[in-house]
Amino acid sequence: MGNNGNDGHNPELQVLIQPNIGLDSDVRRSVVEILNTTLANEAVLTVKTRSAHWNVSGAGFFELYILFDSQYKQLNDISDELAERVRMMGGVAIGSLHEFLKYTRVEEQPGLIPDILRLVADHEASIRFLREAARKCTEEYEDEGTFELLVSVMRLHEKMAWMLRSYIENEPVHGESQKRIMTDD
Ligand SMILES: [Fe+2]
Repeated sequence: MGNNGNDGHNPELQVLIQPNIGLDSDVRRSVVEILNTTLANEAVLTVKTRSAHWNVSGAGFFELYILFDSQYKQLNDISDELAERVRMMGGVAIGSLHEFLKYTRVEEQPGLIPDILRLVADHEASIRFLREAARKCTEEYEDEGTFELLVSVMRLHEKMAWMLRSYIENEPVHGESQKRIMTDD
């Protein structure tokens, strides 16, 4: 109050210019919520995939090292697309670890190195969320732009899940238990 200079302690009110794109503000708010939840899912799966890349060992080391790396990069690109669409809808993209953990539907598993089965399950959970979210966007919100983005993201997850699943299919032993990062006594 009375402080017209902006020293960072009293930030001036930001002016948000709402997009006039044929979607009313309630619809855009709902869509932003869906996009931010999807973004949180991607963020957690990105970190888990990166952990798998860093800690891969044993049979198939080199292939998996490369596969996890390529999937980590795809997930990173997906997050970027989602966050940018949040802005196109006039919203604010979440961007803190705290918020990602608060909104994600993908289970965080501190202390565990994700194995392939776990990553497949996480991709599948993301796919189920995206399928329902995409349906809502087209049927309830009539936002074909977000619908199309969510479907394209879902298809990328379907492909990543297929590749991971195929890697362990027909293996004599399925799903070795996940390794712990630190062993407690
Ligand atoms: Fe690397």
